[in-house]
Amino acid sequence: MTTEEKANIDWANVGFGYHKTDKRYVSNYKDGKWDEGTLTEDSNIVLNESAGVLQYAQTCFEGMKAYTTVDGKVVVFRPDMNAKRMAATAKRLEMPVFPEDRFVEAVEQVVKANLKFVPPYGTGATLYLRPFMFGSAPVMGVKPSAEYQFRIFASPVGPYFKGGAKPITLTVSDFDRAAPHGTGHVKAGLNYAMSLHAIVTAHANGYDENLYPDALTRTKVEETGGANFFFVTKDNKVVTPKSDSILPSITRRSLMYVAKEYLGLETEEREVYLSELKDFAECGLCGTAAVISPVGKIVDHGKEILFPSGMEKMGTISQKLYETLTGIQYGRIEAPKGWIRVIA
Ligand code: PLP
Ligand code: COI
Repeated sequence: MTTEEKANIDWANVGFGYHKTDKRYVSNYKDGKWDEGTLTEDSNIVLNESAGVLQYAQTCFEGMKAYTTVDGKVVVFRPDMNAKRMAATAKRLEMPVFPEDRFVEAVEQVVKANLKFVPPYGTGATLYLRPFMFGSAPVMGVKPSAEYQFRIFASPVGPYFKGGAKPITLTVSDFDRAAPHGTGHVKAGLNYAMSLHAIVTAHANGYDENLYPDALTRTKVEETGGANFFFVTKDNKVVTPKSDSILPSITRRSLMYVAKEYLGLETEEREVYLSELKDFAECGLCGTAAVISPVGKIVDHGKEILFPSGMEKMGTISQKLYETLTGIQYGRIEAPKGWIRVIA
């Protein structure tokens, strides 16, 4: 697709927000089965006032991106992993699973139907894909809906945090987003509803995001509202928190593989205590939206932890991880088998 055929968007300055694109995918679940699904131009949804999603928040979602590569192809990063995670989420929320192969096909259809919204290579923007599913039939007693809708829409996006690669400041939250044995490990909309008061409070206090400690002991690092953590030790080991109540980030799992197999770094997934934060050389967030966002400072109830990498730029190892991961996504570096799905 030539530059003239692309949508008229200031790609370099697009933020992380909703931008309506041409087509979205929709499939309905009724009488125990999914219909064949279709693309539609209609971005609005009409629902019964007592729909499961409206009354008891029976909804879940996914997030992934389409990229224009250095050689002009349009690709999606590991959509099969999002399909699998959405299946796990659906089961936890008593929702029907949208078949994983159909999920990936639907992603492909949505990207193909919105090619003019896939940002050109080198702009820093990408096409964010948002699959989601919700209970659409009326409920009154607390029980799962009998009917569901699965959708995928696309929106061009820029960096999640303003300033892109500039280190951000976090605060240790006094609110919880997930409980042991709760839903933190799946992508339920309710986890994000839980975090809204906490993020508004953090922003009002001048912080970019929250670090949520574990709800039970409040001594261990879990994640932020929308990304997993990684840390780099002073001897260049990449450490990521282990917990049953954080979302198993596809970016984080990819990053740990890249650290070990591409950069030859030692990696470790283990419990990380708040008391150790002061000993790390670098800290970063990772996720589809966050990509790799460096953390310069964490404030824990008045106690400031400033990472040696500082507030001006990413630390050396974070930078290498960033370059390798985005290099794979943009086709500059050969990807592990199966990571890149070529769409156009
Ligand atoms: N943690 C939370 C709470 C998230 O919402 C996300 C975003 O999807 C992530 C982590 C990162 O996951 P992924 O890398 O699969 O996008
Ligand atoms: C993503 O990274 O895809 C997410 O879902 C995070 C969200 C908070 C924007």
